[in-house]
Amino acid sequence: MSDIVRPTLTTTAGAPVPDNQNSLSAGPRGPLLLQNYQLLEKLAHQNRERIPERVVHAKGSGAYGTFTVTNDISRYTKASLFGAVGKTTDLLARFSTVAGERGAADAERDVRGFSVKFYTDDGNWDLVGNNTPVFFIRDPMKFPDFIRTQKRHPRTNMRSPTAMWDYWSLSPESLHQVAILMSDRGLPQGYRFMNGYGSHTFSFWNDAGERFWVKFHFKSMQGHRHWTNAEANAVIAEDRESAQRDLYEAIERGAFPRWRVCVQIMPEEDALKTPYNPFDLTKVWPHADYPLIEVGVMELNRNPEHYFAEIEQSSFSPSNIVPGIGFSPDKVLQGRLFAYADAHRYRVGTHYEALPVNRPRVAVQSYHADGPMRFDAPRGTDAYYEPNSFGGPVEAPSAKEPPLRIDGDADYYDHRAGNDDYTQPRKLFRMFDAAQRQRFFDNIAGAMQGVPEAIIERQMTHFRLADPAWEAGVRDSLARMKADAGQESSPLQAAE
Ligand code: HEM
Repeated sequence: MSDIVRPTLTTTAGAPVPDNQNSLSAGPRGPLLLQNYQLLEKLAHQNRERIPERVVHAKGSGAYGTFTVTNDISRYTKASLFGAVGKTTDLLARFSTVAGERGAADAERDVRGFSVKFYTDDGNWDLVGNNTPVFFIRDPMKFPDFIRTQKRHPRTNMRSPTAMWDYWSLSPESLHQVAILMSDRGLPQGYRFMNGYGSHTFSFWNDAGERFWVKFHFKSMQGHRHWTNAEANAVIAEDRESAQRDLYEAIERGAFPRWRVCVQIMPEEDALKTPYNPFDLTKVWPHADYPLIEVGVMELNRNPEHYFAEIEQSSFSPSNIVPGIGFSPDKVLQGRLFAYADAHRYRVGTHYEALPVNRPRVAVQSYHADGPMRFDAPRGTDAYYEPNSFGGPVEAPSAKEPPLRIDGDADYYDHRAGNDDYTQPRKLFRMFDAAQRQRFFDNIAGAMQGVPEAIIERQMTHFRLADPAWEAGVRDSLARMKADAGQESSPLQAAE
């Protein structure tokens, strides 16, 4: 070790640091001298090491990999990444829990985020999905309210089951997602053992200018593995980074996780015919009507070198699309198109997309100017506005998606009026076998502990409307837990 030639430690301005062990002081006992700017720089930098954590999905893990096309879908989309069987595209994936802060334990019952940034040769395409095909809300107006119920209570600074069930019981559109959250899939053993979903309806458009509605599915090739609540508690007692560790170590030992990437395709005109609104984020499209079509395989095969630089600063946005892929009328998707880039400008900074992890692998040729930390400005150009006579970049009409017919009067439409919130959760519930049902009832009853009776009763109505057996099962679990708690507390009560 001693004969290793070590580089010289420098200040951030590149000057050699004379002493990195001792501060400059007037005499051995101090005080210190203000001119010891190396000490000031060191302390000042430390004060600036943190950036705001993501307002949701703060705890996460990420890795690089590739997407390889296995099936030609160019009749649906001109997106270049799907251009030819065998074509590979580099990508970054980030997985996360939703509610916990950056230091939260991984093995918590929660929805998991499933974000993928495809560095395509037409720019970055970000698919910012979850491990569930639906969501708790169908109007973005409710997102901040819903998230508040998942975070800490302003007075107690603790998570509040009362707030969660109060909100859910007043928002029946949440029932489908609540059912998934309380099922086995609500607590995956690690990120390798879960599916990913784009969740929203997006659009594809092809060279002929035809549009198709599309949903994205990532099927885990490692299979599904879940913890029970009791198992997860034991895991957390030993290891708060269980999912980070599992992903990192699997990639280090060469067990590269893979997902089969599939799409469901709906012809544009079908959207007027389906009995459900195909742009409603609380609904799935039945596979019998719109079967899965395999597109390719995603593999994760490289860990980041520096977690903060590459994962904490990674910035995914549903607004990042490429020609051949478009949005849909889904109201929640529309709201998200604003929220993410806004969050990145606040959380990471104006030029967040210039950071190596976010930077497209193609040339960026925009007229955006200046701002904090601009370091990659075009050099010596006269074309700094548009239109110009100096050879500056011009728009590409081929990137314009086909026109979409829309109509309707501007109004605040009640998204709850006349909506069927029960049929799809009922179908899901009836797919559970007896053991799955019992865990499901226990998970719900466990999560309801301490919640006022009136709120539990309001939620029971939704369970009953989905399936009376669902309501009865939860009531049984609640009664059993009450009896168990009574038995446990009796010796104490006797001693009092
Ligand atoms: C992260 C907003 C719905 C998946 C975030 C962030 C914001 C946000 C502000 C933090 C972004 C950052 O700082 O980088 C919203 C709003 C929603 C919404 C306003 C609804 C109106 C959804 C839905 C999904 C989703 C429906 C999944 C289908 C994610 C994921 C992340 C995230 C996976 C983490 C991204 C990453 O890995 O960096 N969301 N969200 N969100 N959201 Fe949403």
